[in-house]
Amino acid sequence: MSIDYSSIPSPCFVLEEAKLRKNLQLIDSVQQAAGIQIILALKGFSMYSAFPLVKQYLSGATASSLNEIKLVNEYMGVKAHTYIPAYRDDEFNEVLERSSHLTFNSMNQWNRFKDRVNGSGVSCGIRVNPQYSEVATEMYNPCVPGSRLGVTRDLIGDSLPEGLEGIHFHTLCENDSYTLERTLEALESRFGDLLHAVKWVNMGGGHLMSREGYNTDHLIGLLKAFREKYNVEIILEPGSAIAWQTGVLTSTVLDVVDSQGIQVAILDTSFAAHMPDTLEMPYKPRILNSYNEPVADKFTYRLGGMTCLAGDFMGDYSFDEPLQVGDLLFFDDMIHYTMVKTTTFNGVNLPAIGIWQEDNTFRLVRTYGYESFKDRLS
Ligand SMILES: Cc1ncc(COP(=O)(O)O)c(C=O)c1O
Repeated sequence: MSIDYSSIPSPCFVLEEAKLRKNLQLIDSVQQAAGIQIILALKGFSMYSAFPLVKQYLSGATASSLNEIKLVNEYMGVKAHTYIPAYRDDEFNEVLERSSHLTFNSMNQWNRFKDRVNGSGVSCGIRVNPQYSEVATEMYNPCVPGSRLGVTRDLIGDSLPEGLEGIHFHTLCENDSYTLERTLEALESRFGDLLHAVKWVNMGGGHLMSREGYNTDHLIGLLKAFREKYNVEIILEPGSAIAWQTGVLTSTVLDVVDSQGIQVAILDTSFAAHMPDTLEMPYKPRILNSYNEPVADKFTYRLGGMTCLAGDFMGDYSFDEPLQVGDLLFFDDMIHYTMVKTTTFNGVNLPAIGIWQEDNTFRLVRTYGYESFKDRLS
């Protein structure tokens, strides 16, 4: 059944419940078949109104700040798996109390906090850098020289210090299981001796199981073999894979202007404020019912955001019909790494958040106005 957008405000992130369930079912089938645990990475998808559905399939979540930890506690009803690049002294006790697992990013951090962990019952691990990543964009590559994320093998002695019982690595970004396979080879070549001594291995996120063509059977085989070889519990913590292709960002054309021969449609949304990954990564989002590249004989537009940042635009798209003020556009796959990254730059309102429910009704979860803008300032 297609969505009736007439009842949906603009701009609005619209999560499709049925699509989220489909991803969760697939991910759950992997964790069952491989005998591992898969948890949600909140940094990619923190839409807590959807957590009751997530909880039907996944046991918990990973957090990267005290605020995310609180969200896990409050809306998933469990302690968090926590990894923060550097723990703060004044937050540490609360972080510890609210977490089931803690990953440290450096030996310094471990040495600084190990006495406070002692006797807490929290399972601790260290993030390692296997010095192998196939992520081409430097901004998303945690293995580059100078990376602050994880320790290289030379920084650990012959064995892990007492008290550390887990190894964590995160080096994938929208990758497949074959990349994971090569990454595991690099991990084993550098950290193989330590793997025999740990209780758990957290393989981070970036496993895009829900992307069409992903070979989940290959992933399952890989995970099972690794689990049996080292006799470890395996944890994966994807964010993108969970909310992948689960909904759109609606937007409306507010104006169409001619800029030195280029037609520009100005929208009620912003690439900089509402879809920052499109400029950071960068990538060109798909728009439903449009051509992602200019097509001769079609109507071609550059799409501009509603902030006054000159670079707040995305170009160029073609449409079968000319764009008119009031036309609705739907940016596809706008549920992960969007809501979690929005800003009110320029004082723009945050997009509303809603759910297209499995019973084909729309639930408007949240709208934002002046108060949300003002709240971040003083
Ligand atoms: C430590 C860690 N775990 C998990 C994730 C989630 O990755 P993804 O959303 O690509 O699956 C990230 C993303 O940056 C991360 O840094």
